[in-house]
Amino acid sequence: MGTDKKSEPLNRVDGRAKVTGKAKYFAEFEVPGVTYCVLVTSAITRGTINTINTKDAERAPGVLAVFTHLNMPVIPGWANPANPNAKPPSGGEKYQILGSNKILFNGQPIALVIADTLERAQYAASLVKATYNKATHQTDLLKNTEKAAMPGRFGDYSRGDNKEAHKTAPVTLEADYTVPVEVHNPMELAGILAIWEGEDKVTVYAKTQGVKATQRTLAGAFKLEEKNVSVHSEFVGGGFGMGLRTWPQEVAVVAAARQLKKPVKLVMTREQMFNLVGHRPYTIQRISMGANKDGQLQGIYHEATAETASYDDFTEGTVAMTRFMYACPNVTTKYRIVPLDRGVPIWMRGPGEATGAFALESAIDEMAHKVNMDPVEFRVKNFTLTDPEKNKPFSSNNLKKAYQLGSEKIGWSKRNATPGAVKDGEWLVGYGMSTGVFGAHRGESTCRAQLNADGTLVLQSATSDIGPGTSTAMVQIAHEVTGLPIKQIRFELGDAALPPSGSQGGSATVSSVGSAVYDACMALKGVLADAGLTFEDGAVKPAAGKSAGLPQVLAASNKQFFEITKSSKGGPEQQKYSMYSFSIHFAEVRVHPLTGVVRVKRVVTVADSGRIVSPKTAASQMIGGVTGGIGMALMEEGVIDHRFGRMVNKNLGDYHVPVSADVPHIETIFIDEPDPYSNPMGSKGMGEIALIGFSAAVANAVYNATGKRIRELPITPDKIL
Ligand code: MOS
Repeated sequence: MGTDKKSEPLNRVDGRAKVTGKAKYFAEFEVPGVTYCVLVTSAITRGTINTINTKDAERAPGVLAVFTHLNMPVIPGWANPANPNAKPPSGGEKYQILGSNKILFNGQPIALVIADTLERAQYAASLVKATYNKATHQTDLLKNTEKAAMPGRFGDYSRGDNKEAHKTAPVTLEADYTVPVEVHNPMELAGILAIWEGEDKVTVYAKTQGVKATQRTLAGAFKLEEKNVSVHSEFVGGGFGMGLRTWPQEVAVVAAARQLKKPVKLVMTREQMFNLVGHRPYTIQRISMGANKDGQLQGIYHEATAETASYDDFTEGTVAMTRFMYACPNVTTKYRIVPLDRGVPIWMRGPGEATGAFALESAIDEMAHKVNMDPVEFRVKNFTLTDPEKNKPFSSNNLKKAYQLGSEKIGWSKRNATPGAVKDGEWLVGYGMSTGVFGAHRGESTCRAQLNADGTLVLQSATSDIGPGTSTAMVQIAHEVTGLPIKQIRFELGDAALPPSGSQGGSATVSSVGSAVYDACMALKGVLADAGLTFEDGAVKPAAGKSAGLPQVLAASNKQFFEITKSSKGGPEQQKYSMYSFSIHFAEVRVHPLTGVVRVKRVVTVADSGRIVSPKTAASQMIGGVTGGIGMALMEEGVIDHRFGRMVNKNLGDYHVPVSADVPHIETIFIDEPDPYSNPMGSKGMGEIALIGFSAAVANAVYNATGKRIRELPITPDKIL
């Protein structure tokens, strides 16, 4: 740890549980007397409910309750006299979950139907009939750009004294980019199971990326002490960001369960996953760039305009990368949001930067062509070891090495720089590359370590695992610190009662929780030393000059185990250095000139994410991220019919994601150099950089193959022809 020693590739410690069905996801928990909730959703996009007829539904077999705005229990922590059930918004008007007759977006819940079986709840839900007073809605960002406003949290940025350098430099370009609505849609559907004990204590099984965050939300909503809100979420079937909030309809289900004095379970439908749990916001961007003829960047202007909801001001770091990625004296960025009559967006796979990197890294490629330079060389020419935004050195930055390793692996030197010059049978061949970046974040985390008499080590922290293999990485860290065999170490997570940690998001878990695991294991060494014991050769042994082993020492002091709890967070280095993870993506594509079909043929992705703690799960992250990147580049698009304000492809048949046949061999390379300042392991985050930038690598490869610049994702055949 923290040294040049490489970690060994480890199988997932919970792999067997996952593939044999032993791993239980929230919806699989059964409790006696459980009831089932089905959401009825709005057919209009803006307006009010005029009448809502629930009589037939209430009379249907097995129905326990139908809640609408007329009889919904008040959510005490959210309510004030004027706004029952309105969570205090961070911006915009208030959205009340079944708290008023107001409709703010299409698909908004208008009723909860609860019955003794799922089928009976579904049938009864079909009997709820509403009439509406429709108001004019606005769902088209392009028709509402005059409403674009600067969000409080993201001010304009400018450096340099020549604000026009992007226009007046010897070589310039200006281009507009579009990233459509994309949806997370992990395999596991969203929802919650709520079980009350009286009025003051509740247990939930939930799909969440943060058990502590869900605990805080529910404690706030129901005015409970946190310790009276149990949240369980040990296994999560993917999140991609949608599980970073406890959604209003989930809180409403908890309220319904309290009123009914019965456990209630909600599993959202796949259709509801398209508009009730957030999405990547539709975003338009303009990049204007100027360089000298020798390829030195002189000015960049980057403006992004993204949708948000009328009732919340969601923001993300879309233009962040442009501020610091390249040595460029004059940079201006602007970020605007436009409130629309849509559900609120939320962070999604490489949030913000994934959208921004598509624009920036496409423009960089275009500029390289304009100055007749190889795109890799162009990036190296404009490389900087000092973050020009913060004016601080990067804690580590191995981009130059990454460009070199990736180039060699994909065979970049054989690339023909002339677009459309290379064919393979009927197919045009193209190579493209791009850079991705994401903050190497580290939050405060706590870990409890318990060493039992039999030499097993149990580690506990209230973090989550949405799929990357958190437990595996944590076990690996503990193994490397203590030397204990992998099979003797267990990591427990997904329970809000465990020592507190942050949500799994922003690629921060290994850095945050891993540091706490590291610190707890180091502290345990001290506890053992005080007791005359030591970790040696994969076991707990008597220290030099001592003879009693672990069981004897514990017995002598009347203890079952040794335990220690440690909190960990970043120190002053976090302020002194600029900390980022970097990725380089190389893509080789085939484009069919008659059909416009694009196939990704080969991918090489290089990650500069510090020391790799868990090589096997890290490689899986890269493969998963790139697969998401193929979807973003070529397929994913939530299509809204603005006449109705409704998404028309709310199913996985019409909303395309990559299947195995769309995903070629993805070669992953890790620089695997410890970052001296990030954390005790020397690691930096992995999850987001796997996807960030990849769509630009594909777009740049399509240009190399065809001579066409596609600036609007996804790159579908109609845009090629
Ligand atoms: Mo990630 S978008 O931080 O779940």
